Amino acid sequence: MIYHTPVLADEVARLAAGRCRGVDCTAGGGGHAAILRGAGLRVLAVDRDPEAVAAVRARFAKSDVIVLEGRFADPRVLDEIARFRPDLALLDLGVSSHQIDNEYRGFSFRRGVALDMRMNPGVGMTGAEWLESATDADLGRVFKEYGDEPRARRLAREIVRRRARAPLTTSDHLVNAIRAVLGARAGPSDFARLFQAVRIAVNDELSQLEAGLPGIRDGLTPGGVLAAISYHSGEDRIVKHTFREWARDCVCPAGQPVCTCRGRPLGRVETRKPITPRDEETCQNPRARSARLRVFTKADEA
Ligand SMILES: C[S@@+](CC[C@H](N)C(=O)[O-])C[C@H]1O[C@@H](n2cnc3c(N)ncnc32)[C@H](O)[C@@H]1O
Repeated sequence: MIYHTPVLADEVARLAAGRCRGVDCTAGGGGHAAILRGAGLRVLAVDRDPEAVAAVRARFAKSDVIVLEGRFADPRVLDEIARFRPDLALLDLGVSSHQIDNEYRGFSFRRGVALDMRMNPGVGMTGAEWLESATDADLGRVFKEYGDEPRARRLAREIVRRRARAPLTTSDHLVNAIRAVLGARAGPSDFARLFQAVRIAVNDELSQLEAGLPGIRDGLTPGGVLAAISYHSGEDRIVKHTFREWARDCVCPAGQPVCTCRGRPLGRVETRKPITPRDEETCQNPRARSARLRVFTKADEA
């Protein structure tokens, strides 16, 4: 079975052309890493998921690709990235097909799946444990902010009510709670959206992104390129605002008479609008549908 089909492969190949050293911060099955290698780059591949790390190690066993297990925002990983001195850094966020399709990983809303959802199954709370321990307010916030759910508070209350009787440990328990609140019209797209919200919370994905972007940019050589592919509006918003903020020449509060900030842009945004896959790609790989690529080039003197 294919581990994961790399999204926006042509665009990634275009970004890699003429570059020397690439860090793939979310290596997955190594599809993008292979594109970087194919373009002649030395590659550092990072992933927080031990299965992904094993797959990438096996794929590139006979090559000079360096593979590192860890989260891209962890200081240890950021140090390795900086030491590697990449002139291209790639983030392809979210989960791989391997993670979704293997039921034992617990990401899927298919029937009878134990709710794990951890990208690294050795670390942190499972989805079931999170649903058991999150406060009513946290549940509501996650379903609203990460799941865009208009009935987020009702869903939170429903989960609290149900877990008082028995813990929600499987996909069926969560699907039934969603059905109870959204009614008969609830379908796969609702389950996917709300399971994704729980997954984002369990893996603390948006904090990783916010914390990781500046460190990854710092690790790039001057003139280096940072490219991020998002699949969720919350991720894309963070990437868009962060890149825009870095490109401003003054970040002092409005009305401050004298500039006391860095007073120069850290680089430029290459994508006023995100690059999205063409129809041919989404026909062949429907999981690419929500992909949005944004690109930032670090200033030469930054
Ligand atoms: C969409 S997949 C990447 C697929 C990859 N580009 C390929 O072509 O095979 C996302 C990967 O990012 C990893 N990941 C997500 N957040 C991460 C983080 N904060 N640090 C490191 N890896 C992360 C996941 O474990 C998953 O393997």
